[in-house]
Amino acid sequence: MANIKQSQAQVSVIIPTYNESENIIQVLKSIGEHLPKDVEVEAIVVDDNSPDGTGKVVEDYITDTRNEVGYSIDIIHRGAKSGLSSAILDGIQHSSAETIVVMDSDFSHPPKIIPQLLEEIKTSDYDIVIASRYTAGGEVSGWSTKRKLISKGATGIAKAGLGVNESDPMSGFFAFKRKILEGIKFDAIGYKMLLEILVKTKGAKVKEIPYTFTDRTRGSSKLDSSTMFDFVTSVWKLYRYGHSTKVSDTRTSVRFISKAGRFYTVGASGLLVNYIVSLLFADAVVNFWYIHATIIGIAISMTSNFILNKIWTFEDRNFEAKKTLGQYGKFVGFSSLGALIQLGMVYVLVDNYQIIYPLALIIAVIIAASSNFILNKKWTFKEKVWS
Ligand code: GDD
Ligand code: MN
Repeated sequence: MANIKQSQAQVSVIIPTYNESENIIQVLKSIGEHLPKDVEVEAIVVDDNSPDGTGKVVEDYITDTRNEVGYSIDIIHRGAKSGLSSAILDGIQHSSAETIVVMDSDFSHPPKIIPQLLEEIKTSDYDIVIASRYTAGGEVSGWSTKRKLISKGATGIAKAGLGVNESDPMSGFFAFKRKILEGIKFDAIGYKMLLEILVKTKGAKVKEIPYTFTDRTRGSSKLDSSTMFDFVTSVWKLYRYGHSTKVSDTRTSVRFISKAGRFYTVGASGLLVNYIVSLLFADAVVNFWYIHATIIGIAISMTSNFILNKIWTFEDRNFEAKKTLGQYGKFVGFSSLGALIQLGMVYVLVDNYQIIYPLALIIAVIIAASSNFILNKKWTFKEKVWS
C-alpha cells in the first residue's frame, strides 16, 4: 500500500486499470499537474491483477520516494478481471473523501477537465457532474463509425428505456458527492456505473460539461461482446428496478394494495389458463372426457397461479425443492378452502338469511377471495399480513 497516503482527502479520484502499464504513470502525473492546489486529493487505482504488470508499476511508483505528484496515491489489487463498474464500486468503498471523481486510465479522459468538475460540485452545488461527449461542445475523436454507432445506440436505449435525461449517461468520466449514494445497493455489472448511479439517485442535481473524448493511443480497449451482453443485463435490471418501486414503496398501505392487485391479476390469468387448457384437452387436442379435461384445467391453472404468485406477487425467488413443494401444497390447500368457504357462505346467506342469490354470491366471492389472499400471504409465503 501507498506510503504517501495522506489522511482525510477532500477528493478521491478512482482510476480502474486493466493492462494500462503504458499509460497509468503518465496519467497519474498529468492529474497531478492539473489538480487545483487548494484541495487534498487521494487517487485510488483499482487494478485487476493486470497480466502486463500495471499493479507492480503503480506500486513501484508509489514507493519511489523521488516522485512528487503532489497528492496521495493508493492502489487496490484485486485478484482477477472483474469488470469496470465493480472496480469503480470497490474504489468508492475504499475511498474516504466527500467528493469522488471517476476516470479512465488511458488518456481518453483529459485530466485538465477535473478542476471544472470539482468547481461545479463545490460552487454550484451539483450532486453529479458529468464530463459529456454529447452535450453541446462535446466531441469524440478517433472512434470508428461502428463504435460511434454502438455508443449512440446504447445511449439511446438507456435514455428511452430508463428515462434518463442526460446526454451522456454512459460517460466513464464524472464527479459526484459521496452522500448521494447512501442506502443504495448497486449491481455494478459491466461498464455503466454512471448509468446505474443516475437511475438510482433520482432527484440528484446533475450537470454536464462538454469535453473531447480522444481514443487511446496506447494499449487496447477492453470493451468486447461480453461487455455488450453486460450492458443488456444491466439495463434490464435497472428497468426492473424502476418498475418495482411500487412494491418497495415505504407506505405499508401502498405495498399491501399493490400485492393484492398482483394476486388478483394472477387469479384472473388463472381463469383464462383454466378455460383454454380445459377446452384444449376436451376436444381440439386429445379428446378427453370433459370432466377429466376440467380437472386438468384446474390443476394447470392452480400451478401457473402458484408460480406467478411466488415469483411476481411475493417476489420469492427461492426455488429449493422442499420449500417450494411445501408452499405449493399450502397454496392448493388454501385455494380449495377458498372454494369451500364460498360454497358454505352462499348456502348460509341464501338459506339462513334469505339474501337473494346474486348478492349472496358477490359477498361470498369477496370473502373467499380476500381470505385466499390473506391466508396465502401469511402461511404460504410467510409475510406479515399488513405489509
Ligand atoms: N480494474 C478494471 N477491471 N479496470 C477495467 C476493466 C476491468 O475489468 N475493464 C476496463 N477497465 C479500465 C481500463 O483499463 C480503462 O482505464 C477503463 O477501464 C476504460 O476501459 P476501456 O477499455 O479503455 O474502455 P473504452 O475506452 O472502450 O470505453 C470508454 O467509453 C465508454 C462509453 O462509451 C470508457 O470511458 C468507458 O468508461 C465508457 O463507459
Ligand atoms: Mn478507453
